[in-house]
Amino acid sequence: MVRVLVTAGPTREPIDEVRYLSNRSSGRMGYALAEAARRAGHRVTLVSGPTCISPPAGVRFVPVTTAEEMRRAVRRVVRVADAVLMCAAVADWRPRTRHRGKLRRETRPKPLLRLVPNPDILAELGRRKGSRTLVGFALEPGATFGARGPLAGRLGPAERNARRKLRRKNLDWIVLNGPEALEGDRTSAAAIARDGRVLVFRNLRKAALARALVGLVVGK
Ligand code: C5P
Repeated sequence: MVRVLVTAGPTREPIDEVRYLSNRSSGRMGYALAEAARRAGHRVTLVSGPTCISPPAGVRFVPVTTAEEMRRAVRRVVRVADAVLMCAAVADWRPRTRHRGKLRRETRPKPLLRLVPNPDILAELGRRKGSRTLVGFALEPGATFGARGPLAGRLGPAERNARRKLRRKNLDWIVLNGPEALEGDRTSAAAIARDGRVLVFRNLRKAALARALVGLVVGK
């Protein structure tokens, strides 16, 4: 039994009391990973941004909204985790200020959104990795997984970026996805290991991909 922390979904970064910055993550891949890990007999905590799906049964569920909240929850749970699957699409930026009330169309001067960077939660974990298995996900718009895809022997920019993230964040694995992973139920992916191994999964349902990934990176 492995203690697994999975993060999923988008984060929301408030602009005012009714609006936010976010991204198109549905949370499906992360929820599928949590479910697959639980079914494999592991003890699973799922830290999730807002999604429209119900958390799998048997999983400890920690809902969060902003990247800062996700960071706090992750730092708490990671102390008792052996493996971290960081699938959340954390917003890279947040508005520097949150307006009170609702910004109005008539507001003058016209509002200007000033952004500040959010913490890179996974990179922070990578700096205090210990013996934990750390897995990141990289959505690379140019990633293709056909015969001439990133794994045909020649590094494409998508694979090169993913490998750079693997090194920079001190990960054991990075899972490279194309943009078709967003919101859909099927996806292709490549799992790239620190030790150079590469496994490609083409056009699988997210549940099937999740089972394969859990078997690969978490094990029994
Ligand atoms: O650098 P990029 O955002 O593409 O890296 C993706 C990986 O890093 C994902 O695993 C994501 O969950 C994680 N991440 C994070 N905190 C951020 C941005 C990304 O943990 N602020």
